[in-house]
Amino acid sequence: QKYNFGMIGLGTMGRNLLLNIGDHGFAGAGYDKDATKGTLLEEEGKDIKVKGFSDVKEFIASLTTPRAVMMLVPAGKIVDSVIEELLPLLDKGDILIDGGNSHFVDTNRRVDYLENLGYHFFGMGISGGEEGARRGPSIMPGGDKEAYSVMKPILESIAAKVDGAPCVTYIGQGSAGHFVKMVHNGIEYGLMQLISETYEILKTGLKLDDDSIQKLFEKWNEGRLQSFLIDITKDIFKYKAPGTDHLLLDDIKDEARAKGTGKWTSQAAMDLQSPIPTIDTAVAMRDLSKYKALREKAATLYSNAETAKLDVDQDAFLAELEEAFYFAMIITYAQGMQMLSNASVEYNYGLNLSEIAKIWRGGCIIRSAFLNDIYNAYEKDNELAHLLLDESVAKTVNETISGVRSVISTSVSSGIAVPAFAASLSYFDAFRSKRMPSNLIQAQRDFFGAHTYELIGKEGVFHTQWVPKN
Ligand code: 6PG
Repeated sequence: QKYNFGMIGLGTMGRNLLLNIGDHGFAGAGYDKDATKGTLLEEEGKDIKVKGFSDVKEFIASLTTPRAVMMLVPAGKIVDSVIEELLPLLDKGDILIDGGNSHFVDTNRRVDYLENLGYHFFGMGISGGEEGARRGPSIMPGGDKEAYSVMKPILESIAAKVDGAPCVTYIGQGSAGHFVKMVHNGIEYGLMQLISETYEILKTGLKLDDDSIQKLFEKWNEGRLQSFLIDITKDIFKYKAPGTDHLLLDDIKDEARAKGTGKWTSQAAMDLQSPIPTIDTAVAMRDLSKYKALREKAATLYSNAETAKLDVDQDAFLAELEEAFYFAMIITYAQGMQMLSNASVEYNYGLNLSEIAKIWRGGCIIRSAFLNDIYNAYEKDNELAHLLLDESVAKTVNETISGVRSVISTSVSSGIAVPAFAASLSYFDAFRSKRMPSNLIQAQRDFFGAHTYELIGKEGVFHTQWVPKN
């Protein structure tokens, strides 16, 4: 028996992906040094064609050629050491796939290294967590286009489907797949922060009980805010700490961890000079949350007397909050899409933004009803310079703007931190400005550093002696 696809690393993600492959009639081989993982794979996949190996040579020898071998191991040095272990066993033309969340710069290095040796290397973003891997993830493969055809039938069959269309497409050359997955995660950070700020407004501002918060998220999830992240949030607000009558959520420490993909998105955005302030804010707030001891001290120094119950008409305010969330969600996606468009030019990825929006509609963590609107916008005009310039998006944004202003000003004047909402609104207000106050920055730079400035309607660069020299 030969196997069509090999998986290295049979943790939950690797095992689930292989079971998914087996479910679709392909034969999948898995390798893990820990033989119990291979046994578990075979037990769970007893009715399909999957086999576990703990000997790497036997594993590689069991694959059809050209081989397609995916590594699902922790990002970083382990990926390099697995590559070195495999190289003597592979043949030229074989395809090595990194299915983890590797940094795209590492992926570029690995592509160069392996392509030079005659192998194909794919950086492949996979989103959807354990459940997605088992039932259908969103898959973002980047690498050599010809080599993609070998994996295409398998990937298309295991991916999530939306209206029958598989949530996988060839993303682009080099590190394009991992870059797009990184930006996906940046958007994920932004949306999660917006949901958390919403929770704060509901709990601290409106003093709603858990049940009312749960019902609100449930209602939102039935309307235009429908999304995976709102969907899981409504379930989190149902889950009681075992043996108690209160939410498990209330027992969880308010210090958010991160594996780094959000930070990488912000760093890469700065390099591209592509502003994503909502995502930057989300990264910063996770970091600020870790300052627990400092926050506790500061809480004793600075009274929060103003965070009394918001003095608003509750129903009207909740309607505005829904608008505010929709607005900020649109801005978060818009920042991410704009970053992709800039990266496509800078790194020569050749990204197709409508295809990316299309494969994000199912399987992944940021899937939402609004992604259909994004898909439609780029489908109508693949050269669209910015999502906010699409007419139908603009119409929605215009309809939600008064809600977002009201929610932010009410929250801010009551001392409730809503930095991601505020960053989204300020990004928008600056973006739609014909004139920004940046002329003053140019004048100041020229004043103190003779950095020069350009003039409206006159070619060239200029420098002024702003005050007489002493
Ligand atoms: C996904 C997720 C996945 C992972 C995040 C968690 O698309 O399935 O994004 O890749 O759960 O990277 O990231 P943090 O640990 O940084 O929150």
